[in-house]
Amino acid sequence: MSERPRVFVSRVVDFDLLASLEQVAEVRHNAADQALPRAALLEAVRDADALLCGPDRVDAALLAAAPSLRMVANCSVGYDNIDLAACTARGVWASNTPGVLTETTADMAFALLLAAARQLGPARDAARDGAWREFYYRGWLGRDLHGATLGIAGLGRIGTAIARRAHGFGMRILYHNRTPNVAAEAETGACWVSKDALLRTSDFLVLVMPLSPSTRGFIGAAELEAMKRDAVLVNIARGPVVDTASLTAALQARRIFGAALDVTDPEPLPADHPLYRLDNCFIAPHLGSATLRTRREMFRMAIDNIRAALRDELPPNCLNPDARRVGGGA
Ligand code: DGY
Repeated sequence: MSERPRVFVSRVVDFDLLASLEQVAEVRHNAADQALPRAALLEAVRDADALLCGPDRVDAALLAAAPSLRMVANCSVGYDNIDLAACTARGVWASNTPGVLTETTADMAFALLLAAARQLGPARDAARDGAWREFYYRGWLGRDLHGATLGIAGLGRIGTAIARRAHGFGMRILYHNRTPNVAAEAETGACWVSKDALLRTSDFLVLVMPLSPSTRGFIGAAELEAMKRDAVLVNIARGPVVDTASLTAALQARRIFGAALDVTDPEPLPADHPLYRLDNCFIAPHLGSATLRTRREMFRMAIDNIRAALRDELPPNCLNPDARRVGGGA
């Protein structure tokens, strides 16, 4: 009887769903909801044929430590943690979880927009801490979303879902992509503008692009300087698309109205980071896709990708279909 393939699961979303992997493979997993130390991860993948991972770094060193590895299923849509070129060169397929988290993440973008616009962070703290003693006419005055201009940097799947919601809020929608998204324009009424125009005209600017060398530092001191004084910045993409030091300085100087961040650089921010002390900065601990249903669907999708790879079929969400041809094992 041939040996069962070995799968290592570095993060478990739902233990019941693991059963469908156990039907086809010998599965080991990290039971804690926290990343394994790097050395432990490298040890854990030593004899693995497939890895289901969270935001762990999958790079040439990990691939070298896992000579049997043929498949890496990332349990997220963003895959900046994976060195795709290294995977392809080694003949390792990699996959992500597109689609299932689109609407949930767009909901979160609106939660952040509203939290920052209506100063929910400091207002909640004040209510809890006893500073709310009567009705105030001038307390925690926010910004209206309705009638405002929303700028979207990165009008892909999630950006389009945000634009759809913005339409319902009565917002004017601008966006900037390297390549215009004509289908999303037709559906949502979003208008393409240059990056400079996006910065200068948006009342609310949401960052939704993937992290890549070209988007790293997309918002720095010059960009913050170009934004409207009463603008709100929301980052639901990846921390490094914003230069943290520049944003901190801009918020401290009240250069813009506020920011809401679902992702930070570094992530997490150290507990003593000055951004936590600013009442014009709302920080959430990377919750974009964090609903029960969506996280289960992401995990199920990652498992399905591994099951396909173990059958030697192209995983449905494969990011590098050429890997087996280029790196061997086709
Ligand atoms: C994603 O899927 O990319 C989310 O940010 C969760 O990691």
